[in-house]
Amino acid sequence: MDSPRPVESIDRPKTVTEKDQQAQTEMIRRFLDQADSLAVLTGAGVSAESGIPTFRDAQTGLWAKYDPMELATPEAFARDPALVSRWYDERRRRCAECEPNPGHLALARLQDELEAAGKRFTLITQNVDRLHQRAGSRDPLELHGTFWIWRCTSCGEEREERAIPLPEYPPRCRCGGARRPGVVWFGEALSESVLAAARRAAEHCELFMSLGTSSLVEPAASLGRIASSAGAKTVEINPQETPLSSRVDISVRGATGEILPLILPAQG
Ligand code: OAD
Repeated sequence: MDSPRPVESIDRPKTVTEKDQQAQTEMIRRFLDQADSLAVLTGAGVSAESGIPTFRDAQTGLWAKYDPMELATPEAFARDPALVSRWYDERRRRCAECEPNPGHLALARLQDELEAAGKRFTLITQNVDRLHQRAGSRDPLELHGTFWIWRCTSCGEEREERAIPLPEYPPRCRCGGARRPGVVWFGEALSESVLAAARRAAEHCELFMSLGTSSLVEPAASLGRIASSAGAKTVEINPQETPLSSRVDISVRGATGEILPLILPAQG
């Protein structure tokens, strides 16, 4: 069963020395021009510039005393469905107040440009906030689901839940069952069809970009390695080094909201 699980920490060789960022973005643009298919994996870092804390940012305020790794589990929901649904509602509320940032918008434009040129573009995201869709990205593969869909723990009915705040904690289904966020928790299986589609995209792309993810949670973290083993060019954009940094062709130390607009073709 493929479920989200932190990879073992490994001693990472020092990442390649940083080249001039402009030279890197020009090289990425050349990769884009040459590639007929692009697969992009995004993580919480892409939403950071919209004001949404990354998963491993220190939790603030009310949530400081809770370890997110503890709350994002079926056991936590079974133990205290009100607390866990309130925690997700707080994240939904923050997300509703945020806007897609230039990184999200650049990815949506990149999809338009590549698909207009008859090229293949697959967006794979670990994010559950749906800011990609709000920016105009189409058909992203949501590896970890989304907190805008809630599922009944009794009858299994899934429903988009747009009410902010939620009417009650946990929200109730028509059948009376408690509804849980439609996200993948630690220890739970990812959707096999979504994961298979993501792996296919990684295997068949000519260019793979890992954006704003710590590359610490499997099975998402292995997509970059699948792509490079299949011969794709690989790019990472992250202010910090990750376990992937020393394995990619270009590792840019930067923020996606700043770098991604630079790799887009000049607006024609
Ligand atoms: P993390 O919080 O683990 O990592 C966020 C990454 O974004 C870090 O490597 C930051 O350096 C980077 N970052 C921060 N600001 C950035 C910016 N402006 N531009 C680019 N990168 C930036 O979040 P994820 O990698 O998404 O799983 O975490 C993967 C999974 O771990 C999540 O989906 C969640 C969590 O456990 C589940 O909920 C199942």
